[in-house]
Amino acid sequence: MTDNELIKIADSMREKSYAPYSNFRVGAALLCGDGSVITGCNVENISFGATICAERTAFVKAISEGKSGFIKLAISASGGEIPTPCGICRQFMSEFAYDNFKVICKGDGGGCKAYTLSSLMPHSFKAEGLK
Ligand code: THU
Repeated sequence: MTDNELIKIADSMREKSYAPYSNFRVGAALLCGDGSVITGCNVENISFGATICAERTAFVKAISEGKSGFIKLAISASGGEIPTPCGICRQFMSEFAYDNFKVICKGDGGGCKAYTLSSLMPHSFKAEGLK
């Protein structure tokens, strides 16, 4: 699966976004180790803190389906700027993906940037920290 194919799926997931409060629509597409793609979108709540981002939606769906070996994630957001995952999502992804996991970010303006997870979240808190 190419980056562009994954981005197209993330693009289409923006239509499923539930974002009546921010009107900022985000779609995500996660390529798993078995070649399957698990999708997500942001789902907002009137109790704003209960909102879940597109990235975490995709990861929660994937983990609950028994997926592993995550390869890359594409996110696509409305708004001209190229988005990057929020801090909570960076920490969340660090739990399940390796340092070289690729995060491809696309804004409405057509711009696109790719990052490794370790560049987005250096020195993340890992399970080993509890031992
Ligand atoms: N959001 C995401 O889905 N992913 C991000 O990486 C950043 C923010 C959502 C959460 C909320 O619904 C809206 O964008 C505005 O913050």
